[in-house]
Amino acid sequence: MKILALETSCDDTAVAIVEDGRRVLSSVICSQIDLHMPTGGVVPEAAARDHLLRVNQTLQDALKEAGLDLDDIDAFAATLGPGLVGSLLVGANTAKTLSFMTQKPFLGVNHLHAHVASNYLDSDLEPPFLCLLVSGGHTQLIAVESYEKMRLLGETLDDAVGEAYDKVARLMGLPYPGGPHLDKLAQSGKSEGIVLPKARTEGAYDFSFSGLKTAMLRLLESEARKAEASLATVSPADLAAGFQKTVVETLADKTLRCLKETFPDTGIFAGGKRTLAIAGGVSANSGLRGYFLDYEKNHPDFKLYIPKMRFCTDNAAMVASAAYFNPLTTDLSMEVFSRCVSFS
Ligand code: KG4
Ligand code: ZN
Repeated sequence: MKILALETSCDDTAVAIVEDGRRVLSSVICSQIDLHMPTGGVVPEAAARDHLLRVNQTLQDALKEAGLDLDDIDAFAATLGPGLVGSLLVGANTAKTLSFMTQKPFLGVNHLHAHVASNYLDSDLEPPFLCLLVSGGHTQLIAVESYEKMRLLGETLDDAVGEAYDKVARLMGLPYPGGPHLDKLAQSGKSEGIVLPKARTEGAYDFSFSGLKTAMLRLLESEARKAEASLATVSPADLAAGFQKTVVETLADKTLRCLKETFPDTGIFAGGKRTLAIAGGVSANSGLRGYFLDYEKNHPDFKLYIPKMRFCTDNAAMVASAAYFNPLTTDLSMEVFSRCVSFS
């Protein structure tokens, strides 16, 4: 089954065609980074208008890349939420119109389910597994018990990891979008001697990153004062490395504990290995990837899945995969939504 999917929940206009939820036939992403660079963040109205401008061309590019035309497509999918409503409407209404015109099914998708499904693309991953979803808007630990049944085990009580990265990057004067720039800077720094707080939360698997963000702000302010007084300062690269190490260790500690406690019986996993999948924009982070890849090397009972880099941040291939394995709706009248009421 070939599904053509659209993803326009935030600042990427993306169209992809995926066969049977796993085989990517094409994936085109048209980024709005240049548009939002001057404001240092996404302006919702500008984002929605830009999606409208680009969606038809992106659609044609995806069909061309796959060497297919509309007659070859079996169903049309789009992200219905969570996201920016004006932006979501562009992708959702394009998919609904195509479905109506061709009399083929419409499949509405939850953006968070799509991030989880990014790990099915070009891979053999099957539930059950634990998913650490780390994006610009969400930080969640999800028990994926089957393709359709998912349980939210923990989430951030304040900032999402990607949001913390973007805010700290902005404080450090790095360009938009901050996360990848801060990651790059961290790779050239040394974290030794930089002590930042790791938040405790009441919920065993919940996270909190606003305290860390404030601690970074204080540290940057004190470094600026030292520089003014011509005293020795810590380099921005070392500060970035300290921040990255703290984030990665916080995520890894809880995730690994959650994995063991949620799935005490390794017998239910393929090959008897506890399986972790990482998803969302921050799964592109070199520190996070490196940490879990090392852990996998040293723990024969642990198996790691991470999406290819181009499927970590927003893309439409993951939407097509979620539409195949776990669509929210086939109802053309279902509206887009800005927030999730429940996870499943
Ligand atoms: O999943 P995504 O594309 O969009 C949302 O659904 O939010 O995630 C975007 C987030 C942004 O906050 C971006 O800064 C962050 O992912 N991000 C990164 C990296 N690449 C993207 N954060 C840290 N390191 C990276 N390499
Ligand atoms: Zn996303």
